[in-house]
Amino acid sequence: MSAIVPRPIAFVSTTDKDDVFNLAPFSCFSPVGLKPARVCLSIDWRKDGQKKDTLKNMEYSKDFVVNVVDEVLAEAMNQASAEYPSHVDEFKEVGLTPLKSDLVKSPRVAESPVNMECTLLQVVEFGTFPTGGHMVIGEVVLVHVRDDLWNGDSIDIGKLKAIGRLGGELYCRTTDIFQMKRPYRF
Ligand SMILES: Cc1cc2nc3c(=O)[nH]c(=O)nc-3n(C[C@H](O)[C@H](O)[C@H](O)COP(=O)(O)O)c2cc1C
Repeated sequence: MSAIVPRPIAFVSTTDKDDVFNLAPFSCFSPVGLKPARVCLSIDWRKDGQKKDTLKNMEYSKDFVVNVVDEVLAEAMNQASAEYPSHVDEFKEVGLTPLKSDLVKSPRVAESPVNMECTLLQVVEFGTFPTGGHMVIGEVVLVHVRDDLWNGDSIDIGKLKAIGRLGGELYCRTTDIFQMKRPYRF
């Protein structure tokens, strides 16, 4: 894990059948296609062999929201990685505001600069506890971008100030950016 760095962090919001909202970060996370836009993340077993609340909620609602983590959200993201009992509303616990999504049941995080509403495409289960885990694949059906980040064509990475995960408890900022012209464009 410390060699595959920096990794983006999906701050995933979900809901259960009783409208209890859940939040958790996942850094085994990647885009896996553009048209249609897809993302995947890996969700391990909990230490007690149960599925994590995020996965249970995804399997109930068939959707989830990926919220981008910027420097301002870093501390709340870290707090949300604690193993709260299922009945605890983690938005309240970490002091964030849920907003109703437009196309999915899962709420989105008001304080996050970018929210991706996703429908659940597939859950691939590998092995059984204590090894293995789950690969979740979702389709991004709607993206919300904070107005000041949109430069008319794409997201201004410098303004986004997303953070990345390194090994263990280490993170990085995206403030040291350089550009390379591509030799040709596809
Ligand atoms: C930055 C960060 C990245 C994480 N990435 C993952 C991951 O990719 N897969 C995973 O299973 N857990 C990951 N975790 C741990 C989960 O966030 C943690 O188990 C959380 O309690 C799960 O919450 P839930 O039971 O509400 O779904 C990560 C934690 C942190 C702080």
